[in-house]
Amino acid sequence: MEVAESLIQQLKNASRIVFFTGAGISAESGISTFRGKDGLWQKLKPEELANFDAFLNNPKIVQEWYQHRRDIIHSTNPNPGHFAIAEFEKIFDEVTVVTQNVDNLHKRAGSSNILELHGNIERNYCIECGNEFIGAEFDYKTVNGKCKCGGLIRPDVVWFGEMLPYEIFSEAEKKAAESDICFVVGTSAVVYPAANIPLRALHNGSVLVEVNIESTDISSLVHHSLLGRSGEILPIILEMLGS
Ligand code: OAD
Ligand code: ZN
Repeated sequence: MEVAESLIQQLKNASRIVFFTGAGISAESGISTFRGKDGLWQKLKPEELANFDAFLNNPKIVQEWYQHRRDIIHSTNPNPGHFAIAEFEKIFDEVTVVTQNVDNLHKRAGSSNILELHGNIERNYCIECGNEFIGAEFDYKTVNGKCKCGGLIRPDVVWFGEMLPYEIFSEAEKKAAESDICFVVGTSAVVYPAANIPLRALHNGSVLVEVNIESTDISSLVHHSLLGRSGEILPIILEMLGS
């Protein structure tokens, strides 16, 4: 993998950067991606767990599954890819992270402007009274999955058939449209409407840069395709920028 000198020049002239990230950025932290050969969905059908009806029919199974994912996330740490993105803030006027991930790792790595399109697994709420249960300390098991009011507690993540948080999505579209450079990192870029974000950037004249271990549906559209691990490539770019 070689980072083109032209990309470094484009970065040196840029002030607004967007990172659009997916499960692949967290792969090197030991969190499984959804698709691909080691993807979660080789073993589990998403529609069986990640929708509201499944939750109502089988709350315990869905809660246990999310608690299991939370436990995994708590035992891992951000990797050099997340840290490199946080580091970009020191060099550019405006850096926005638009992520499809719910794992909170960008926050833990120190990024400050994060737009979470699919929610955050550290937030949970009661579907009856809206009471919130926030933070890593919360554990479904200790409250038996229920709020004091008796309502079921669910994770604050976007499930199949649910809307994305409108304001966050609009803000992400705006930042993408205004960006000079948009990095598309570790995402198969097939899940809409999230996957509109890089297209929005492209149509507004942003330079599109893909970082992925393999080519994806948008590879043919990007200006620079960097094949490799995000935890290796992003630190290399920082280094080339002289940081
Ligand atoms: P996917 O699992 O679809 O894609 C992960 C991508 O990361 C693939 O393109 C891999 O090639 C790439 N990848 C894996 N390891 C990598 C590494 N070390 N460095 C760089 N790239 C790597 O995950 P997403 O695109 O995030 O939505 O999936 C999008 C959405 O699908 C998720 O947010 C989730 C799911 O439906 C919801 O839960 C609402
Ligand atoms: Zn309640």
